[in-house]
Amino acid sequence: MRRAVLSTIVSVCAVMLTVQAQQPQTVLQGVYAENQARRGQTIYKAQCALCHGEMLEGRLGPPLTGDEFVSDFAKQPLSELFGKIRNTMPQDNPGKLTPEETADILAYILQAGKFPAGRAELRADEAALKQITWPANAAQPKTASTPSPASSFPPAGNLAQVMRGILFPNSNIIFTVQTHDPAEKRTTPEGAALAGGFNWTIWGSDIYSGWDLVDYAAVALAESAPLMLTPGRRCENGKPVPVNDPEWLKFTEELAEAGRAAYKASQTRNQETVSDISGVIAEACLHCHQVYRDKPGRGRDPVDPSNRANRCTK
Ligand code: HEC
Ligand code: HEC
Repeated sequence: MRRAVLSTIVSVCAVMLTVQAQQPQTVLQGVYAENQARRGQTIYKAQCALCHGEMLEGRLGPPLTGDEFVSDFAKQPLSELFGKIRNTMPQDNPGKLTPEETADILAYILQAGKFPAGRAELRADEAALKQITWPANAAQPKTASTPSPASSFPPAGNLAQVMRGILFPNSNIIFTVQTHDPAEKRTTPEGAALAGGFNWTIWGSDIYSGWDLVDYAAVALAESAPLMLTPGRRCENGKPVPVNDPEWLKFTEELAEAGRAAYKASQTRNQETVSDISGVIAEACLHCHQVYRDKPGRGRDPVDPSNRANRCTK
């Protein structure tokens, strides 16, 4: 206990010293060293290139170079990009990069972005990284579209995250009506769920009745349709969501209609009526996925059998 307190005090002092020593800088001022970027490149090739491409051009994951990428991170200090990598990457095995390795990769990313090298190495130190910002014009994507009311609500996540966060759980609620009557008594009281540890999906589920939940899931699906068209949203691989593609629009309308139909069905409080409508939901998802997500015939790529690199294109 005492040791923990002591080491906290020590590290707080260290942080204060660093803050004093570190002047605010931008990435144009040579914030990393050449040989550090070389080390970073080696780690990048081994752990990141598979998903982000040999030239950082994007593959299963988004590009790590170019205006789009820079403008995403340029609104915040360099510590944000550091944290994103350190905490969430490599996506298939996050948390195993050391702070130093993360700083090396960051140096390489800066070098690839044509930001100049300097003499000192970029330090793996949160407070120091917080002092480094981007040039003011870097936060503007060069391809900025004309402002519309919708651009005040920029996307918070990529398309796959919207799918997994909204469409997946809500369609599953409706699909479950095929096997469970929403009016039936609950079989998992709160206590039982807790006994097995905190249950994220069951928590709070007894606040609304079973049929209410089906209503809300149907509404959520219908209302999620405009999210398919949010300007500026990208797919997980960095490709823009094809919001101007007439076929994409058609599938978006199909999703909205399926959601509205499910709501109407749920309002009958008839299990069979809702079971019948699940097929309509599933079809709406499938039709779009067949064209934009699941690519038959392209599954032979040995590096990317999931075809994630090809998603969001026709
Ligand atoms: C298994 C595939 C995979 C690997 C390996 C991987 N990434 Fe990613 N990365 C992704 C995906 C998918 C995203 C988009 C989702 C997200 O932002 O979390 C992403 C996002 C990022 C982002 C945010 C980009 C943006 O524009 O928002 C950075 C930075 C990044 N990765 C860096 C790295 C680095 C550095 C490594 C190697 C240490 C790495 N990634 C390894 C798949 C991967
Ligand atoms: C308008 C087109 C469209 C519609 C409609 C649509 N999807 Fe998607 N979905 C996509 C695309 C494209 C992706 C890939 C997104 C990415 O890579 O960022 C995707 C990805 C997903 C994923 C993530 C898969 C993974 O790799 O983890 C899930 C889950 C998903 N969709 C569920 C659904 C469900 C459920 C529905 C119907 C209620 C639905 N989607 C309707 C286009 C659509």
